[in-house]
Amino acid sequence: MVSCPHRIPDVSRSAPVVPAAALLTAVTVTLALTLTSCTGGGGAADGTRGSAGLRDPYFPKLGNGGYDVTHYTLALDFEPPDEPPDESSDESPSGADGRLRGVAVVTARATRELDSFNLDLKGMDVESVAVGGVAARWERAGQELSVTPEGGLGEGETFRTTVRYSGVPETITDPDGSREGWLPTADGVLALGEPTGSMTWFPGNHHPSDKAAYDIRVTVPEGLRAVSNGELESESTEDGRTTYSWHTAEPMASYVATLAIGAYEISRSTAGEGAGRIPVYVAVDPSQVKGSRAVLGRIPEVVGWAEGYFGPYPFSSTGAIVDRPEDVVYALETQNRPVFPGAPGISLLVHELAHQWYGDSVTPKSWRDMWLNEGFATYAEWLWEEDHGGDSAQEIFDALYEGDYFPDAESNEAVWDFPPAEPPGADRISDSPVYERGAMVLHRIREAVGDDAFFELIRGWATAHRHGNADTADFTAYAEEFAEKAAPGANLTKVWDDWLYGDGKPPLA
Ligand code: TRP
Ligand code: ZN
Repeated sequence: MVSCPHRIPDVSRSAPVVPAAALLTAVTVTLALTLTSCTGGGGAADGTRGSAGLRDPYFPKLGNGGYDVTHYTLALDFEPPDEPPDESSDESPSGADGRLRGVAVVTARATRELDSFNLDLKGMDVESVAVGGVAARWERAGQELSVTPEGGLGEGETFRTTVRYSGVPETITDPDGSREGWLPTADGVLALGEPTGSMTWFPGNHHPSDKAAYDIRVTVPEGLRAVSNGELESESTEDGRTTYSWHTAEPMASYVATLAIGAYEISRSTAGEGAGRIPVYVAVDPSQVKGSRAVLGRIPEVVGWAEGYFGPYPFSSTGAIVDRPEDVVYALETQNRPVFPGAPGISLLVHELAHQWYGDSVTPKSWRDMWLNEGFATYAEWLWEEDHGGDSAQEIFDALYEGDYFPDAESNEAVWDFPPAEPPGADRISDSPVYERGAMVLHRIREAVGDDAFFELIRGWATAHRHGNADTADFTAYAEEFAEKAAPGANLTKVWDDWLYGDGKPPLA
């Protein structure tokens, strides 16, 4: 049976991708709280503070309460690090050091009266903060940047916060040992943000529940390319530096925002037909071009196939970013343009493109709802197999149930470690129960309601929450209401109790 290449390599069990020393450093660093402050005008002494953190069950400090971001404008300037020392050359290094300079303009609406509010920003030096063009008081504590705007903000008020910052962004090591945030590559950098890494390269409300539109403008030395989400609106070179302007109109969660800087080869085509035609923009590391050409050429075919099940593609462009497997070790469903560690197999391509509907368009309300991303994307792989001469979804389900899906017993047993809707901790949100058992939940629903109703249900779910957020309770309520009409008598309660929330391996009957 197939193994699952989308899964983050389990560094706690397999050969460590992250050296143990790095893990240790990460733990030590989180204990050191930095507190810097700065004044730039007055502000209310006390009163209505926007909360730091949105009480995410797994990442309580992520995001901030009291406002809702509608738009980010990021103007970024990247200077690649010095060449690695080259013995054969006498040339001295250029003096550059991999720094990022940024101006972030965050447009948000206050959801209540606010004397102060927070943004998430991990690392980097803040130079100034202004709200509505007026200098604001600000201070930093850990990943929180708190801002006290002159005169406060009224409920419902739309306000614009400008943060000027610079530094070498950090790479984050997650509770499960994987690396995200700002990942230096052989020829540039790759920014990946699941679940928390985007706060290393821009300030914002970094929780999946606050989606916004983006304009990301990136300036790099001529010869390098900067690739991000959405559509490339302009590209211009002046004095040896090229600026790429990317526009994302549809709401985007910050964890699927990306920035890839490198010597990518670009290819453009189109997918879809008639009114549904969209541009395909693919950026591939030169070393991966040959090996990935055939599979990336199938993006329009996969998008078309997926539309047949999930409904119209939710965004105005698609594509892919392929880096070297030495530079990134997992794939991620970055919006419009998923990232791959080397040439993907067709299943992985299907998985990441399916996430555009399930994850990027219908986004979890919190990190507890991960199975709504991974269960659906995994089930999409099963449907692809079923439709392309491979095992049927039923056969894959059976193999998992019988424990002969993965090559090793340990992985087969791990499917039953915990219920998909309740991972036991932040270090388990990308484990097998979220993926395989999440897909098994969907297959149980299919068995309970029948094929026609099931396919209508998963498409209806993507439509009902298109460009929004949803949690597990929204899903079970939706499925029940749907089944009442389309498959009266189907017992979904048992699916929830046994498969979604139940401990251990559920009975089949
Ligand atoms: N979402 C990615 C996928 O399935 C995998 C992944 C990358 C992930 N980084 C993560 C999952 C962090 C959970 C947390 O394609
Ligand atoms: Zn996934």
